[in-house]
Amino acid sequence: MVEQSTKNFIPALGYNWLTGLYDLAIKITMPETKFRNTLLDHLNPKDDERILEFGFGTGQNLVLAKERNSHTDFIGLDIDPKVKHIAAKKFRKHDIAIRLDLYDGSLFPYEAKTFDKVFSSLVFHQLDRETKISCLNEIYRVLKPNGTLIIGDWGKPKSKLMRVQFYVVQILDGFQTTADNVNGLIPDYMIKAGFKNVKEPGSVNTKIGSYCYYLANRPN
Ligand SMILES: C[S@@+](CC[C@H](N)C(=O)[O-])C[C@H]1O[C@@H](n2cnc3c(N)ncnc32)[C@H](O)[C@@H]1O
Repeated sequence: MVEQSTKNFIPALGYNWLTGLYDLAIKITMPETKFRNTLLDHLNPKDDERILEFGFGTGQNLVLAKERNSHTDFIGLDIDPKVKHIAAKKFRKHDIAIRLDLYDGSLFPYEAKTFDKVFSSLVFHQLDRETKISCLNEIYRVLKPNGTLIIGDWGKPKSKLMRVQFYVVQILDGFQTTADNVNGLIPDYMIKAGFKNVKEPGSVNTKIGSYCYYLANRPN
C-alpha cells in the first residue's frame, strides 16, 4: 500500500526550529489580548455548538475559547505534529480537554455538514493559492448550512507604515503565500468557495501588519 505523505507546509513561525518561540514572538509583535479576544467576540461560542479551529498552532485561541464557554465542543485541526505536542501540554497545564486532530493537508478528516462554526487565525497567509482555495472548499463542506466562518489573518495594510512593517512577516513566511493576503483577496476566495454575507467587520494594527477579520456564512 502506498502511504499518502503530508503536504509541504510552513511552520508556525516560518521555520521548524523557531516553533518553540512562537508564543513569545506573538506577545512581542502583536496586541495579543486584543486581537484574540476580538476574534472570540466574533466567534461567540454557544453551549453545545460544535466548533472547529483550522490551524490551531500552539493552542492559544482554544484555551481562551474554552474559558469563554466550557459547554462548547471545540475541536482543533492542524498539519504539524510539533504544535500538537505544544498545545496538548498547554491544555494539560490549564486542565482542559479539547480534541486535537492532525491531517495530511488534503481532505479534512470530518463528515460533511458537522460544524456550527469554523474559525482560523494567522493560517491562510501560510497557504499557497491552491491550498487556500482547497481549504476554503473543505471548510464549506464541513460547515452545517447557515454555519459561520470566521477568519483572522493579515489583510490589506491599513497604512503605508503597516505595509512596510508587514515585510517582517513576508521575510519569515515567504512572499508568494502572503501576496494574496496583502492584496486583500481573502474575501474574494471566500465568495468563490460559495460563502455568502462575506464581510470585513474590522482590523487591528500590529507591529507587523494589519490583522483583519473576515466573516461569512455557508448558505442553506
Ligand atoms: C502562524 S500559526 C497560527 C496558530 C494559531 N491559529 C494562532 O492564532 O496563533 C499557523 C498554523 O497553521 C498551520 N498550518 C500550516 N499549513 C497548514 C495546512 N495546510 N493545514 C492546516 N494547518 C496548517 C501551522 O502548522 C501552524 O500551526
